[in-house]
Amino acid sequence: MALRTIREIGDDVLRKTAKEVKEMTPRTQRLIQDMLETMYEANGVGLAAPQVGILKRIVTIDVGEGPIVLVNPEIISQEGSQTGPEGCLSVPGKQGTVTRPNEVTVKAFDENMKPRLIKGTELLARAICHECDHLDGKLYVDIVEGELEDVIAEED
Ligand code: NI
Repeated sequence: MALRTIREIGDDVLRKTAKEVKEMTPRTQRLIQDMLETMYEANGVGLAAPQVGILKRIVTIDVGEGPIVLVNPEIISQEGSQTGPEGCLSVPGKQGTVTRPNEVTVKAFDENMKPRLIKGTELLARAICHECDHLDGKLYVDIVEGELEDVIAEED
């Protein structure tokens, strides 16, 4: 496994549409492992492949309940709404207020291309929406309510 470089806002790759994963290969499995390692190293709750410069529809998420890998995710239903702070590893040191659905159901494949259906509420719903947006070249700063705020970095 290896850490990948996280691309930051201003990098064109973050604004491109990622491509569907057609088959799982050792190379793509390595990418997924690297994404998980990179996400944990950066203390993030989610990472999308375009954030490490790879235009594939893959996201990793961990909201504190263990790693979730979503390949070709598709949000098939959403309910309610939540408004709260959101940040992004590609927009370091900042956060802003974003409204998202409070509950989503996402259809995807896991790292073995096994189909899965995941229902997420609150933080998990927010993370799923945020990461799926990355696959279509969208960043939370596009829909932030008000100004971005500085985040005071926590000591390790
Ligand atoms: Ni992000």
